[in-house]
Amino acid sequence: MGIETALANRKGKEFCELPKVTNSNSKTRKNRRRYKKMSPVQKLFEMCKEVFTAGATGVVPPPEDIQRLQSVLDVMKPEDVGLTPELPYFRANAGSRTPAITYLHLHECENFSMGIFCLPPSGVIPLHNHPGMTVFSKLLFGTMHIKSYDWVVDVPSNTSATVNSSQDTTTSDVRLAKVKVDSDFTAPCNASILYPADGGNMHCFTAVTACAVLDVLGPPYSDPDGRHCTYYHDRPFSDFSGTLAIFLLGSNENVHSFLPLPNSEFSTLVLFGISVDGVAVPEEEKESHAWLQEREILPEDLAVVGAPYRGPKIVN
Ligand SMILES: [Fe+2]
Repeated sequence: MGIETALANRKGKEFCELPKVTNSNSKTRKNRRRYKKMSPVQKLFEMCKEVFTAGATGVVPPPEDIQRLQSVLDVMKPEDVGLTPELPYFRANAGSRTPAITYLHLHECENFSMGIFCLPPSGVIPLHNHPGMTVFSKLLFGTMHIKSYDWVVDVPSNTSATVNSSQDTTTSDVRLAKVKVDSDFTAPCNASILYPADGGNMHCFTAVTACAVLDVLGPPYSDPDGRHCTYYHDRPFSDFSGTLAIFLLGSNENVHSFLPLPNSEFSTLVLFGISVDGVAVPEEEKESHAWLQEREILPEDLAVVGAPYRGPKIVN
């Protein structure tokens, strides 16, 4: 079910429930009283249950629910989930090329999942996607660099190319993406939100200092439901040389163009010149675009170890 269908269904529901405004107001008041007595993490859990009711790929909660959940996350602190920067998870590991990241699992059900990534300095969660999901990320402490992308949607998805990765040349499908975020974040800061088609659905986290990030995913990853986590390499827009094969999607058939390209500058010009609607990227926007290439095997620079959550109890 697409986002539009979900919105249409919701509109219908709101119309049917209109006469019950008084009841729903008193329910809201009761809810507020109930929430006041809860620990912050329990409040987050209860709010997730209210907000993520669909559990379906691509269904985004209504804006008012997004806002309610964000306001709970915005004020959360490390101590609300039993964390302090002194815990061993956050220590720099001398001699280790890729610092291990610790994942504390809080909860997972069909509709949502909650967990915390603990990163020592220089820890990296490589570029990955969140297919059909709405994701809240709350930095609890420390400084983290976030780089995120969204797909450029008005480009043929079957554009493929020979990508020159400095030493060797590999052929793989690549897809054009636009940078959404490329900044350092330091806690305390508000939770960031990404959506199925915008907000930076593909992101990479790099720990500038030791840091912890609380992630809420709705719905969660699920291979059977087509929500598989894919990892990517990001290639600069102009990082093409050698032979470029572009599949132009015509009105009636696919047209193959095999173009020998002597250097990367020329490849850019050719991309400008192929006249497929939407492919042309103005010179000044080249830096904010990249080609994302799927990584076939789990990144070797990703070492995530699970550890039990020892913060305030979550009662289901
Ligand atoms: Fe993520």
